[in-house]
Amino acid sequence: MGSTKALIVTLFAILTLFPEAVEAYASEGILRVAQEKGKIGIECIDFRDFTRDRHRSVDDRPFGGGPGMLLRPEPIAEAVAWLEARHGAFRRIALCPAGQPFHQRRAEEYADEERILLLCGRYEGFDARLLDELAFEELSIGDYVLAGGELAALAVTEAVARLLPGVLGDERSAAEDSFGASGGELDCPHYTRPRVWRGREVPPVLLSGDHAAIERWRRTTARERTLRNRPDLAGTDAGPTSAARSTSAPTRPGSHPAAGSRPDPGSRPAAGSRPDAGSHSAAGSHSAAGSHPAAGSHPAAGSRPAAGSRFDAPPPPTPNTRDPHGTRGSH
Ligand SMILES: C[S@@+](CC[C@H](N)C(=O)[O-])C[C@H]1O[C@@H](n2cnc3c(N)ncnc32)[C@H](O)[C@@H]1O
Repeated sequence: MGSTKALIVTLFAILTLFPEAVEAYASEGILRVAQEKGKIGIECIDFRDFTRDRHRSVDDRPFGGGPGMLLRPEPIAEAVAWLEARHGAFRRIALCPAGQPFHQRRAEEYADEERILLLCGRYEGFDARLLDELAFEELSIGDYVLAGGELAALAVTEAVARLLPGVLGDERSAAEDSFGASGGELDCPHYTRPRVWRGREVPPVLLSGDHAAIERWRRTTARERTLRNRPDLAGTDAGPTSAARSTSAPTRPGSHPAAGSRPDPGSRPAAGSRPDAGSHSAAGSHSAAGSHPAAGSHPAAGSRPAAGSRFDAPPPPTPNTRDPHGTRGSH
């Protein structure tokens, strides 16, 4: 992370069919604080707003047969084009159980990005052509299958956000956590008051005031815990080395504009507030005003979505703004 990182924000754009679910989590805890401090922006985009048919359909049956439905490529591609026309290129990440594993080293790599796009799937996932055409990297948060990518997108967002300078109260926390600086090992056990609880005493060394001895104890117990719980990590790094990391990040032409070209963090509204009634941008939206197409038009690549979408003050309803889930009345 460069020294200018503290002055600029990282924008997470989350493409989802359930923006309210994502925003609900993102408006609490560390993600709320990070937005309030202007360290990150989180923008949730419902790619159903980029459909062109009157039924606002985002999915269809898979060619070749088989169970379930697949997400069609067109609305998502249009949402990405619209987003990148406003902000510039993003690091494009599609959440997929079949993707490469997410781990702390990858979170550190993403923490160097200025704009991260997280695409949440549903149903049986994406049309494969979308991922190829838009050069998405596929990312998995674990060897299990969720019903959608929203929890995965939030996990990535939070893991990255807490690595950004100024987000955590104490900068040492991230380095001393599991998978942190100590070669990717797990964190050591920790204790607080009371000194004795249900007959269990705090290890005396932690009360000794001998900082060298405490450090030795912490290293030893971290190693024991790693061997016990994650022998696969013992003696290894939890991912590529730092040196490899600095060269392994895929580069996307134009994806790293000068720091000065980032939006002004100071202009962000407080987390939890909504800049406009119809918007689905969480606090810290990077939305630019004044770029709306004529009412009734559909969002072409680089233009705003159709009137009635949820990005701006409520325009007149159109077929594409129907709420199929009945969940949109709360904004
Ligand atoms: C039911 S899953 C699709 C599973 C897909 N047919 C497969 O087997 O790989 C629906 C969506 O949930 C998300 N998802 C589920 N499990 C995930 C995981 N472990 N990591 C990241 N995303 C996941 C993805 O966005 C995915 O498109």
